[in-house]
Amino acid sequence: MKLFVDTANIAEIEALLPLGIVDGVTTNPSLLAKVGVEPRGVLKRICELVQGPVSAEVVATDSEGMVREGRELAAIDPNIVVKVPFGRPGVQACRALTKEGARVNVTLVFSPSQALLAAKVGASFVSPFVGRLDDIAVPGMELISQIVEIYQNFAFSSEVLVASVRGPMHVVEAARIGADICTCPPKSIESLFDHPLTDIGLEKFLADWAKAQESID
Ligand code: G3P
Repeated sequence: MKLFVDTANIAEIEALLPLGIVDGVTTNPSLLAKVGVEPRGVLKRICELVQGPVSAEVVATDSEGMVREGRELAAIDPNIVVKVPFGRPGVQACRALTKEGARVNVTLVFSPSQALLAAKVGASFVSPFVGRLDDIAVPGMELISQIVEIYQNFAFSSEVLVASVRGPMHVVEAARIGADICTCPPKSIESLFDHPLTDIGLEKFLADWAKAQESID
């Protein structure tokens, strides 16, 4: 399963890249607003840093506007994936942009029927939001299972990009279900490394080694 980082913060991306586990980046208007810098420059810099897909979202609400904005975003760098919100305009824009050869990520997907429609219009990536479903007491990971099953039934080429990830168990469950990608806030990626027994084990190895060295010296 590929791991994307869900941030527009350059420093956060730079900190994770040396680990060699980041396959791409997703941004959205909220994340870009949070960094408070001119968005095109930020997206360009992210593309320079990361050799993989970088999702950049349109803010137009009509399909013509989404297509226009999508073309501008795609022109920033070949790695840009145009993100459109699910809905009638988004579905229409996805069809138009994919016909032109752009890659599209359909976001704000909360049901299997929405994911089916996004795949039908050629979305390269479909982003179901698991955390926001969990927040309203709907099991987010069940949606991932349903989408994976539907895409397998018809060999759709759209990749399931699990979004709105809140912690390591979302990542583990996504991998068990067979989702293609999980996009995670940096904190959730960091938490994938942690296990107290690893820390305790290393501490003991080093202490035993040091004790042995002392007796040799
Ligand atoms: O990029 C979209 C997404 O991952 C949103 O996450 O935590 O705002 O629900 P969250």
